[in-house]
Amino acid sequence: MKIAISSDHGGNKLRQEIIQLLEERGVEYEDFGPKTDESVDYPDYASPVSEGVASGQFERGILICGTGIGMSIAANKVKGVRCALVHDVFTAKATREHNDTNVLAMGERVIGAGLAREIVATWLNTEFEGGRHARRLEKLHELEN
Ligand code: RB5
Repeated sequence: MKIAISSDHGGNKLRQEIIQLLEERGVEYEDFGPKTDESVDYPDYASPVSEGVASGQFERGILICGTGIGMSIAANKVKGVRCALVHDVFTAKATREHNDTNVLAMGERVIGAGLAREIVATWLNTEFEGGRHARRLEKLHELEN
């Protein structure tokens, strides 16, 4: 599985933590920055990750800003992206099982690194359940078109 990851300035530190987790687990990733702590605009950094997932270049994306809200809004503007803003392990699992989310958003100012690592590990390891949930995803595709 190849992951695309980015943040804004508000998510820089947590992004480094998550990159460390991906490396520990041998998960392939591409880091879309930012490279400095300068203030940046989250849509600019949500874009390459979301487009990369939507195009199939990456299987999943991880986006981090201060709250996770701006990143999740931006990601969900891109056709083909199903992004969930997650701050607990229960919804990390549920959003894979039920929504087949392909992008995960989190807020560095909301949760600590330990919980964020558990969320990412759970989200990466949980499969979509299909069945009745697949029918609902079909309806999401219809909304997009
Ligand atoms: C940046 O200050 C902050 O607004 C951003 O990281 C994010 O929380 C937006 O939703």
